[in-house]
Amino acid sequence: MTDLATALTAVYGPEIQPQIRRYQAGLAAFRERFGPGPVTVFRAPGRVNLIGEHTDYNDGYVLPLALDKDVLLFARPRPDSTIHLHNLEPRFPPRAFPLATAIPPAPAGDWSNYVRGAAQELARRLGLELPGLDVLVDGRPPHGVPRGAGLSSSSALTVASAVALAYFGGWRWDGDTMAQLCSQAEWYVGTRGGIMDQYIALQARRDHALFLDCRPLPGGSFRSRPVPLPPGHRLLVVDSGVRHQNTRNEFNRRVAACRAGVALLRRAHPGIGHLRDVEAVDWSRLEPLLPEVITPAELQALGHPLEDLPNVPPDAPLRVRACCRHVWHENRRVLATVAALERGEMAEVGRLLREAHASGRDDYQVTTPELDTLVALAMEVEGVVGARFTGAGWGGCIVVLVRLEAVAQFLATVPERYRAQTGRSATVFPCRAGPGAGLVGTF
Ligand code: GLA
Repeated sequence: MTDLATALTAVYGPEIQPQIRRYQAGLAAFRERFGPGPVTVFRAPGRVNLIGEHTDYNDGYVLPLALDKDVLLFARPRPDSTIHLHNLEPRFPPRAFPLATAIPPAPAGDWSNYVRGAAQELARRLGLELPGLDVLVDGRPPHGVPRGAGLSSSSALTVASAVALAYFGGWRWDGDTMAQLCSQAEWYVGTRGGIMDQYIALQARRDHALFLDCRPLPGGSFRSRPVPLPPGHRLLVVDSGVRHQNTRNEFNRRVAACRAGVALLRRAHPGIGHLRDVEAVDWSRLEPLLPEVITPAELQALGHPLEDLPNVPPDAPLRVRACCRHVWHENRRVLATVAALERGEMAEVGRLLREAHASGRDDYQVTTPELDTLVALAMEVEGVVGARFTGAGWGGCIVVLVRLEAVAQFLATVPERYRAQTGRSATVFPCRAGPGAGLVGTF
């Protein structure tokens, strides 16, 4: 048995009273549903990405950090091999499914699919004798990861589930293998994302962002390096309150556009596998090789079928040139941001963040008017270094880098002006970079 206060101090630092209440409520709710006895608790954080959007699935660079908001998973083995899931939020109803190497998905959008994906992937890849589990999930505000806000609440649930199953299956995982497994597990829900969200959820360092090269090294591991957050500054996350449905299809179309670009560039640059492989070639030499728009059907006719991309119809117009332009430049911006942060050149960091936002808006076309408004309002505040949308886009949040002394002015003006301009309320919270996912203890 673990001492709760000691375990929580190790994760959250000295201010643990609200966390103690949260964990105690979860433990009580678990025992109420599943009976008395020891309960093991796991956690996985959400993330905010400072820069490097839609680069991860192109083998590119990213610079995320973990939030101090997380998903908690309370678990206990069962004598059979089924997973019984409860959630403290009534809108996520109880679910149960047998463990197997091919687990049938629940209907699209069902919350249990993230756990199913993790369970299937663990069962497949590791051939573990996994025990069944009783599980209770708590992702409620204010300590949970906001849902649908581009802060990777779904990856947090996937990662917490995988970590719990691995623990009871006796697998001593390493972060790189687990990140890859969890990234693959999320493909179960149909989105062809990269490795950023799962990697940072697993390997985050307190008070640091993580510069991650998403290209696997020959042995399958990844190159990453902690980058300290700049002293005298604060990162704010501002939730626009906008949530978009069906982003999965839009997401996969962007992935398709990038893959189409690679296929077409291969005619002049044989053997390349990702946009990353042409990072050293000047963009002005690449751009003329790419059409503005091409459809999957046209690509197929050219001998480049797009495979394994759900919900991208043959006649979908893929904006190849603009999407590749974003990715090629975004990779450079990540490298430049890391260098500028390490040299303390904050004006340069700000310029790069603003440029990244414009590129996501104009070339990748993943921002919304509300996100654009928030960034513009943020930049009006003196002391704001830079601001941009964060995560996949289509609503959700912006991230703002601001000097400490300007935080109060930000809070006093931006939400009010945002409401005046859009009629919506924005939620602002400071981001304290927290540690990565894992076992909290058995209580
Ligand atoms: C989502 C995906 C990530 C990444 C971002 C965009 O969060 O899950 O892999 O592609 O979008 O940068």
